[in-house]
Amino acid sequence: MLGAVGRYQDSLEEPYKMTPAGMWACSVAEELAELFAALELGRFRHFADLGSGDGRAVLLAALYTQATGIEADPELVAVARHLAAELGLSRAGFILGDLRQVDLSPYDLLFIYPDKPLAWLEKILPDPWRGRLLVYGPHFRPETMTHEKTLYAGRTLCSLWRR
Ligand SMILES: C[S@@+](CC[C@H](N)C(=O)[O-])C[C@H]1O[C@@H](n2cnc3c(N)ncnc32)[C@H](O)[C@@H]1O
Repeated sequence: MLGAVGRYQDSLEEPYKMTPAGMWACSVAEELAELFAALELGRFRHFADLGSGDGRAVLLAALYTQATGIEADPELVAVARHLAAELGLSRAGFILGDLRQVDLSPYDLLFIYPDKPLAWLEKILPDPWRGRLLVYGPHFRPETMTHEKTLYAGRTLCSLWRR
């Protein structure tokens, strides 16, 4: 898994680009593996990565539970689907589209490595919703949600939130 993701990343001149909806930069797969193990991801029914890029978080989450990535960039979704098929991860799925149009109620763990402030997400969260939001990185955080936990994934500060 980490090998397949690493090979894809190494094949790129630069793992960074503008997409139809924002900016793609990738989380560190080894850090995600550590984070998901610490959170015992199998407790959650359905994981979603909001802006799933090359699919790395979904591929790792699918080792524990049903996992869906939502991403606006067709090339990145194609890469993610290819990696999921190559790795035989039947619990990993990808939706090509705009996050802001997607019903988030099926998911009880939302993961995001945000490329912009999170006010838009707080507005579209289902109500009621008993899930958790896991934010990778310290740069953007929800303003109206309740902070549950701060944890490190390697050197990256992450935080867990509920409504
Ligand atoms: C910082 S990257 C994170 C990629 C991936 N989650 C990871 O951990 O490697 C943010 C991603 O969100 C996507 N994105 C941003 N806004 C979006 C939107 N409204 N709809 C769909 N995808 C979006 C971008 O295209 C980009 O791929």
